[in-house]
Amino acid sequence: MDIVIYPDPRLRRKNSPVTQFDATLADTVRAMFQTMYATQGVGLAAPQVGINQKLLVFNPSGKAEDAAQEVVLCNPKLIHKSKQSEEGQEGCLSFPEITGQVLRFVEVKVQAQDLSGQEFELELEGWEARIFQHELDHLDGILFIDRMTPASRSQAKPQLEELVQTYKESLAGS
Ligand code: CO
Repeated sequence: MDIVIYPDPRLRRKNSPVTQFDATLADTVRAMFQTMYATQGVGLAAPQVGINQKLLVFNPSGKAEDAAQEVVLCNPKLIHKSKQSEEGQEGCLSFPEITGQVLRFVEVKVQAQDLSGQEFELELEGWEARIFQHELDHLDGILFIDRMTPASRSQAKPQLEELVQTYKESLAGS
């Protein structure tokens, strides 16, 4: 699987719900984890690998050997969020080498379906809550640059312009 890099329009496209809870879905999820580990990520949303569906995976440790920490969420919904928010540093596999400060809820409660379609709820806080909110945004076509603090956003501006330039060149060359 290749990671879709900003400003590829697939990152902004509408994502459809997952409806087929079959072996193909399980294979897709396995491949997403492999891609995520290979690129040193802690989370990955399906549109980032060109699949416009409401599916995300994460592992707060970012290590393949910590498989027990793997989380797979199909059709996730945010059902509760804490009053308290905090700023923290984020990166995104679709934005190589760009990081910035983003405000996120400290605690969230999530409702989702697992690989068999079974509904479940999950409470997350801190780092895990941050990863989840970042990935959930991807499923709504929202990118972390949209939520960066103004200072981080202006710091990232030259690198973003470079990514846009690279994308334009890739289109011209194809
Ligand atoms: Co991301």
